Amino acid sequence: MKKKIGILTGGGDCPGLNPAIRGCVYAAERYGYECVGITDGWKGMLECTTIPLDRAAVEYIIMKGGTMLGTSRTNPFKKDDGSNVKKCIENFKKMGLHALVALGGDDTLGVATKLYRDHKLNVVGVPKTMDNDLSVTDYTFGFDTSVTRAMDAAQALLDTGNSHHRVMVLEVMGRHAGWVALYTGIASAADYICIPEKKIDNAEMLKKIKDAYARKRFALVVTSEAAQLSEVGEGQQKRELDQFGHEILKDRGMGERIAGFIEKNTGIETRHAVIGHMQRGGAPTLFDRMLGTRVGMKAAELVHTGQFGTMAALVNNQYVGVPLEKATGQLKTVNKEWFDVMDVML
Ligand code: F6P
Repeated sequence: MKKKIGILTGGGDCPGLNPAIRGCVYAAERYGYECVGITDGWKGMLECTTIPLDRAAVEYIIMKGGTMLGTSRTNPFKKDDGSNVKKCIENFKKMGLHALVALGGDDTLGVATKLYRDHKLNVVGVPKTMDNDLSVTDYTFGFDTSVTRAMDAAQALLDTGNSHHRVMVLEVMGRHAGWVALYTGIASAADYICIPEKKIDNAEMLKKIKDAYARKRFALVVTSEAAQLSEVGEGQQKRELDQFGHEILKDRGMGERIAGFIEKNTGIETRHAVIGHMQRGGAPTLFDRMLGTRVGMKAAELVHTGQFGTMAALVNNQYVGVPLEKATGQLKTVNKEWFDVMDVML
């Protein structure tokens, strides 16, 4: 009988998950394993819900966004009494798994880390997230597609900004890392970029916008959903949290607040737009298809060589296994090198 690998996708969906599932299944079959899909992330581990996963099932998913396995933000460690973790371990055995490949971001891989470290389950991780905030790996799939989509949105806003002589503010996702806003802004010739890692300097922002407006009679600002604007009373409100304790950031309405602040303080007509989940769906870019395929394949290799507790990562353009613990310990956020780039380019 063939050894079985379970594959699940957890957390927010993103383009590249399907290519990664496909890469993993193709490589696993080549090594002589059978695969099974666990549906809806860790929820599927708790409820023991699976779907068959073979070459035929995944052959034509490389061009599709989202995840064919479904996903959820279920956290088995949320319940303090340990009963859900116990259930995961029991179901791992019940499903007859030799190993589990978990595709996810910091939250999903945090669960994978604990299941390996504290409960000795054979787990391997695959990094995904449009936020690009996982440590150790150079890029996560989902990011390139999201930024490409947000870049197109920014370009479209420029047409209106230019025609109506307005300031246009685009709010993008990315959670507590500013990578999506940073890349979108630089690639769209934005005049100002607001990221969570750098508190907005109000005077500087207003000056840049006024200068840009004086030059060309429009301006573009790209803001992260998690940016900090001191003028508008930050951090007082209690907001809804997900199972991993994260605030629902879209409710902060940063795009709208920054647009209001700019209009009030410059007198220039300002509009905002929120791209939201449109930047997380749709066909993966070439980069995300290839990155997904390669890390998926690498995960199967890590299982085959018994390197459990690791994550398939892209490090200096090489596909390698790195300890899961290293990847999930600390978020990768925008650093000084990029502050300097922003300084020159804005
Ligand atoms: O982590 C990916 C992400 O898209 C973040 O950028 C965003 O803050 C969050 O997920 C949105 O989550 P949900 O899809 O649950 O609203």
